Amino acid sequence: MSANNLGAWAGGWVTAVYLDFMRLEDLDQVAEIEREAFSMPWPSSAYRRELRTNKNAFYIVARLGTPRNEKLSPSYALLRRPFPFSLIPHPPSVEHYLSQRDLIVGHTGLWRLADQAHITTIAVRQSYRRHGVGELLLTGIFDITYNIGSEAVTLEVRKSNTGAQRLYIKYGFHQVGIRPRYYSDNNEDAIIMWTDALNSESMRTLLAQRRTELAAKLGIPEIPEWLPGARASTEERR
Ligand SMILES: CC(C)(COP(=O)(O)OP(=O)(O)OC[C@H]1O[C@@H](n2cnc3c(N)ncnc32)[C@H](O)[C@@H]1OP(=O)(O)O)[C@@H](O)C(=O)NCCC(=O)NCCS
Repeated sequence: MSANNLGAWAGGWVTAVYLDFMRLEDLDQVAEIEREAFSMPWPSSAYRRELRTNKNAFYIVARLGTPRNEKLSPSYALLRRPFPFSLIPHPPSVEHYLSQRDLIVGHTGLWRLADQAHITTIAVRQSYRRHGVGELLLTGIFDITYNIGSEAVTLEVRKSNTGAQRLYIKYGFHQVGIRPRYYSDNNEDAIIMWTDALNSESMRTLLAQRRTELAAKLGIPEIPEWLPGARASTEERR
C-alpha cells in the first residue's frame, strides 16, 4: 500500500507523532514526501550528503507512532518527544511501517550560516496536512535555532505558495525582499522572509503563544522543548 493513500482511510485508529532527527534509513520516505510536495524535489543523494558531511545541517522528521525503547545514546534518547496525536486516524495496514521505523509524515531542516539559520526545506505528507504537523516541525526548528545560538531565521518561499507563507507569518516571519526568477522550473520569484531577533521579547512571546495554541490544537498539555546540547550530526547521534 502506498503511504499516500493513508489519508483516504477514515477509521478510528489513533497514534502519536514525535519529532526525531532524520537518519539515513529514513531517506526513502523523505524522498516520497519530497516528490509529492515539490516540483523540484531534492534527491535522496542530496540528503545523504547533508546527513553525512554537513556539520552545519540539521534535519528532523515527524514520525507517527511511539518511540521504541531501543538502545540510544543518552542525548539522542532525550531528544525524542512523544505525544498523543489524536486528530489523525490511520489504518491497520500502516502497522508494517510502524513495526520497522515509524511512518514519517513530514520533515524539515536548516543550515547554520554564521549567526543565522536558514530553513532549507519543510514538507508534510499530503494526506497529513492541516493537522499541525508543519507547525510541530517549525517548533523543532526553533528549538534547534535557540540551541545552536542563531540570532534569526530566514527562508525563501515561492510567491504563489500562500499556504506556506501563512504558516511562516504565523511563526513570526515577515517578507523582506524578492529574489526574482529564483525557481528555475517556472522562473517564479522567491519571497525572502526573516524572523526578528530570536532573543527579542516579541519573538519569545510569539513562539510561546504558538506552542500553547498548538498544544491545545493537538490536545496535549504542552509542546516540550528540546533539551540543550542537541546535536544533529549523524556521527554524533549514533
Ligand atoms: C506548507 C506545509 C509544510 C504546511 O504543513 P501543514 O502540516 O499542512 O501545516 P499546519 O497544519 O501545521 O498549518 C499551520 C498553519 O499554516 C497555514 N497553512 C498551512 N497550509 C495552508 C494552506 N494550504 N492554506 C492556508 N493556510 C495554510 C495556516 O495558517 C495554518 O494554521 P491554521 O490551521 O490554524 O489555519 C505543507 O502544506 C506542505 O508540505 N506543502 C508542500 C511543501 C511546501 O510548500 N513547503 C514549503 C516550502 S517553502
